[in-house]
Amino acid sequence: MSAVLLDGKVLALQALAGLKAEVERLKGLTGVIPRFVNIVIGHDAGAASYGKSQKRAAEAIGVDYQFTFLPAQVSQEELLEQINFLNHDMAVHGVMLHKPVPAGILFDAAVNAISPDKDLEGMGVVNRGRLFMGQTKVIPCTPAAAMALLAASGVDLAGRNAVIVGRSEIVGKPMAMLLLEKNATVTVCHSGTSRAGHLEDHVRAAEILVVAMGKPGFIRGEWVREGAVVIDVGINAVDGKITGDVGFEAAVQRAAFITPVPGGVGPVTAVMLMRNGIELFKQHLGQA
Ligand SMILES: NC(=O)c1ccc[n+]([C@@H]2O[C@H](COP(=O)([O-])OP(=O)(O)OC[C@H]3O[C@@H](n4cnc5c(N)ncnc54)[C@H](OP(=O)(O)O)[C@@H]3O)[C@@H](O)[C@H]2O)c1
Repeated sequence: MSAVLLDGKVLALQALAGLKAEVERLKGLTGVIPRFVNIVIGHDAGAASYGKSQKRAAEAIGVDYQFTFLPAQVSQEELLEQINFLNHDMAVHGVMLHKPVPAGILFDAAVNAISPDKDLEGMGVVNRGRLFMGQTKVIPCTPAAAMALLAASGVDLAGRNAVIVGRSEIVGKPMAMLLLEKNATVTVCHSGTSRAGHLEDHVRAAEILVVAMGKPGFIRGEWVREGAVVIDVGINAVDGKITGDVGFEAAVQRAAFITPVPGGVGPVTAVMLMRNGIELFKQHLGQA
């Protein structure tokens, strides 16, 4: 069997078309243009690349997306002042802080200073708490992209044995909550699972497998269950090529659906940021 590829580029284009129509509708009703701000501290190549894909997505749907660049030497107080200023700017509907930040900046404290009503990435404690409580408004973008790809597979998640490898705050943990909301039976694996020698067994049992480790090819394709849906979140540079955490060649022979890397989760992530932004914008307009 050869798996159906879950193509993130195609899904991203479809999702952008839907968001564009929604932005046009809201603009027609109110005359207001949504505006999102990405705070970037110092120079960072990752910010440049991820920021560019966000800006492209924003332009595609008619949203005003701006960067606020702060010098690498900015203090925590100056950063909080900037966030406070944006929190009170009625023309700004979404704010995010690009990671990584320089040593000396407390990232979590800064993200939690962003108003929950403008928390574009859904990474503040209020929005994460809402996710935990099943009262989701904005969702961290990478797990949101993984869920959108799972939805595109058409596979009903209810009662499925879903295994997540990785428990980071940004991917694994919110993914577990999102899968639970869809009534999947969720197992979260981490380095302790590996140390105990149980990782392969969990992967072999997974009907839905989501991998976010940051270890190229660590999950051997031969471990993938026949007919599984595989979402590979990993992005690893190996010999100048981008590769995932799952051994693709063997996995594609066993899975029913699989995301390619690159071209799977990645392209959908920036679109999910826009979806969050439109959600916040609607809330601001009283249209949510
Ligand atoms: N496509 C996208 O848009 C996108 C967005 C974000 C991240 N990513 C990619 O996704 C990957 C993961 O990112 P992240 O931020 O979640 O990484 P992270 O914070 O480093 O977390 C990695 C997770 O993998 C687990 N892990 C590491 N080695 C393991 C092992 N041998 N066995 C089992 N679990 C193991 C860790 O377990 P412990 O908790 O026990 O240490 C941890 O929970 C990276 O390649 C990153 O580039 C992609």
